[in-house]
Amino acid sequence: MYTLLEIKYRDAAGRVCDWTFDKYKITTPNIAIVINPNKMIIPAKELKEKFGVEIIITNAYIIKKSKHANEIEKMGIHKFLDWDGPIYTDSGTFQMYSKGKVDITPDETIEYQKKIGSNIITPLDLFTLPEDKEDIVKSKLTETIERMKIAKTKITDSLFVGPIQGGAYMDLRILAAQETNKIKPDIFAIGGIVPLMEQYRYRDLVNTIINVRENLSLDRPLHAFGAGHPMMFSLLAAIGIDLFDSAAYALYAKGGRYMMPDGTRKLAEMEELPCTCPICATTKLKDFTLGDLTRHNLYVTMAEIRAIRQAMFEGRLLEFAEQRARSHPHLLDGFKEALKYKEYLEKFEPITKKSAFFVTGPESLEKPSVYRYKKRIKERYVAPKRKNGIIINTFKKNIISTTDTHFVLIKSPFGVVPAELTNLYPAGQTVALKNNYKIIETANKESIKDYVKSNKESYSKMTIIDNKYEEAWKKDAKDEEKDHFLEIRSVLMFQYGKKAINIFKNMDLEHEISLEISKKTKRIRRVLNKDKLLGTLRASDGLFIPSIYCAELIKNCLDYPDYRVVITDDAVPFVRDGKSVFSKFVKAADKNIRPYDEVFIVDSKDNLIATGKTLLNGQELLDFNHGLGVKTRESIKEQK
Ligand code: GUN
Ligand code: ZN
Repeated sequence: MYTLLEIKYRDAAGRVCDWTFDKYKITTPNIAIVINPNKMIIPAKELKEKFGVEIIITNAYIIKKSKHANEIEKMGIHKFLDWDGPIYTDSGTFQMYSKGKVDITPDETIEYQKKIGSNIITPLDLFTLPEDKEDIVKSKLTETIERMKIAKTKITDSLFVGPIQGGAYMDLRILAAQETNKIKPDIFAIGGIVPLMEQYRYRDLVNTIINVRENLSLDRPLHAFGAGHPMMFSLLAAIGIDLFDSAAYALYAKGGRYMMPDGTRKLAEMEELPCTCPICATTKLKDFTLGDLTRHNLYVTMAEIRAIRQAMFEGRLLEFAEQRARSHPHLLDGFKEALKYKEYLEKFEPITKKSAFFVTGPESLEKPSVYRYKKRIKERYVAPKRKNGIIINTFKKNIISTTDTHFVLIKSPFGVVPAELTNLYPAGQTVALKNNYKIIETANKESIKDYVKSNKESYSKMTIIDNKYEEAWKKDAKDEEKDHFLEIRSVLMFQYGKKAINIFKNMDLEHEISLEISKKTKRIRRVLNKDKLLGTLRASDGLFIPSIYCAELIKNCLDYPDYRVVITDDAVPFVRDGKSVFSKFVKAADKNIRPYDEVFIVDSKDNLIATGKTLLNGQELLDFNHGLGVKTRESIKEQK
């Protein structure tokens, strides 16, 4: 069976995908709702029609032991439940953890899941506990991998799940991920994490998930086994979880607990129902039944799934996760732990977003977009050679440097922002109050220090002043010629690295380069080399969109494979024709490519074929074999 994931939009390390398999197509992140055929409080039909549930999960071991076993074996699980969507089955592993033992063999559970017509089959993995000793974990892992290999040969008409165990040993988690990755299951699932969630060990949970995910192919869904409390969905989605499952909605209800997106309350201790679901809106608290509570919990669960997808659409998933994390110290601890994985998150962080970046707390300093910005200022940016370098502790958009004076501004939490880059995402689209957080102020000072150290050679004289731009302008720069071109050169550096600006090396800037400046916004719109278009500066985010002519120049200045997406020979004619690049035609790609970068599409001999905007990062372009990879912008027709 095949499993096809296609990224629609994304944020942080999370993604919203169309997931296609068999005759089904559902959106991820999603949650498989647990159904126990012995105690069905909400019928499957109602799950779909009233709650928008798209996938359910049930347990083969429980079914085999249930009074309905005969009937289910005869009619199949879909018919029994009256459910025409996908059904995921678990193997019985969890009962080993919750009940201490199971009497089902690895072979039996696979055959049984096949027999009842499951769409997604789980082998009998061995549940590793956080307190398991290393040798125990090792032997459980070896056995789990063996069982997976055997299971794989037996499953042909369903998807096959690869559970990843490893207990508290990160090196073993990584090893398990690498071994499981080789087996190529249709879905990866991180197992043995329920105890971490039960004990609120979110930091350990985050560590486990990221270490595992870094070692898995990105073209398959990643399931967090047993993650069912809506409070943590956003955090887990932001670090790469695509699938959740929930028995929690029913278990919590049984325990009289009322779920909210920020935690749980005991219904018996509540005075009001602070929820807008149809149950809460129409039922009196004192009349709440088990069915009401179960339904409320499920409404909240499903709404949170939709909320995290919407947050990704808006490019605010981390901000959303941060809000949720604020409701519990341990969840906040997990959130902060996630932000420590800067390099990991940065790989997936979009280069541009529709939404502004809101600085809402000291954690904003640790966001991947800030990390990227500071890294690029350090590694990719060189100040232009000028008499005067003036660093001003202020941020204004209309400050233009001159041929003698270069202005550098300060924007929290990014630190120094050269005046010519004030339109560029993200610094130019950030809402932050000045002097709001001590830690950000300190970081700004560090950033100035770093900047002075690396760029002092560029200026004959350098001054740092506080907020007095007008005075500095009048004193130093007002009679000098404004240098609009700086923006082009510096944006190019930011986007492609220092070498990109070598495209201007053999051009006479004064006579051969012209800038079209919008009368209304006073901002650069287009850049021309004599009469040829080099590119446009996009108004919304300040990014440079190179023409195909300019792309050729830039590409020739960069080292191979910088910013290239190499396509297979058979795809070349289609791309020349203007068709977009599907990821299955990607042969190689620069691993430093980030989502929404403007890239160079080349053939196997490094001839430029087209320019395009990539939806995937470099690693994803390699891992994915389905769906859109790069949206072609401009192509070179075959030269006769
Ligand atoms: N449900 C919750 N945790 C697990 C796990 O580790 N393995 C399986 N198969 N199911 C689970
Ligand atoms: Zn409700």
